[in-house]
Amino acid sequence: MPGFYLACLITIFAEMMILKNKEEIELMRQSALLVSKTLAEVAKVLRPGISSIALDKMIGEIIRDHKAVPSFLDYRGYPFNSCISVNDVVVHGFPNDQPLKEGDIVSIDVGVILNEWHGDHAYTFAIGDPGAEVAQLIRVTKESLYKGIEKAVAGNRVGDISFAIQEHTEKKYGYGVVRELVGHGLGKSMHEDPQVPNYGKRNDGKKLKEGLVLAIEPMINLGTRKVYTEEDGWTVRTEDHKPSVHFEHDVCVKKGKADILSNYAPIEAAEKANVNLFSAYSKELVV
Ligand code: MF3
Ligand code: CO
Repeated sequence: MPGFYLACLITIFAEMMILKNKEEIELMRQSALLVSKTLAEVAKVLRPGISSIALDKMIGEIIRDHKAVPSFLDYRGYPFNSCISVNDVVVHGFPNDQPLKEGDIVSIDVGVILNEWHGDHAYTFAIGDPGAEVAQLIRVTKESLYKGIEKAVAGNRVGDISFAIQEHTEKKYGYGVVRELVGHGLGKSMHEDPQVPNYGKRNDGKKLKEGLVLAIEPMINLGTRKVYTEEDGWTVRTEDHKPSVHFEHDVCVKKGKADILSNYAPIEAAEKANVNLFSAYSKELVV
């Protein structure tokens, strides 16, 4: 029953956009940066043979060591600290004891509550060489996140973000943009108004105001955009079992230029320094 989980996700959004003041934004930056730091620690140990459940344990420990709480755990019954989504798993993958292997792509999504404020962001790693096609999917999905972020400025509308992501992925490369799952507002709740789809029209949807914090999260498939949810009620997979990539940043809407609260720099540094991880993403695939 594809699409079944959609309704559940949508009902949890509060109905009003909540704007944050300067102090609140700084607190949210601390929450987002704790997630970045956690993902960077994971990037240091990722290698063939390690299991995602071992990573999940480590993620829980790092978060608690920083006097924070893993926000995914027990969220609507979710049973782990993190979501670890391998290959054709789009999002909400359960960590498990299977060893990760060369050629796997691994999306790691982490959420924390620190000083009452949520951080929620994600990164996709490739263990060993994923091949040119998948490497391009990873690069383009990350690029699309930044194209969306460029539009997260006061006066624009949610649709401007959505359109930018869809243009760069679906229109330019023919990738599948998942429709059933969306980005969201973030604050003292993990999911606040507005929803931020990865597809849409320019100048459409709610107007963005300074102080609005958004979790922007493109979920992009190499093949069909169609997905289904497994019997466990969480794991979302591509219908054609081709790989899917997920990147997520926490972003504060500002005048002129968005303020990215989370930070990929420590994660990318760890990715580059880890010989087990692929990081040569610069090349355009020639077909
Ligand atoms: N980034 C995901 C989201 O925005 C994380 C939620 S996983 C859950 O929905 F387990 F907490 F639901
Ligand atoms: Co999110």
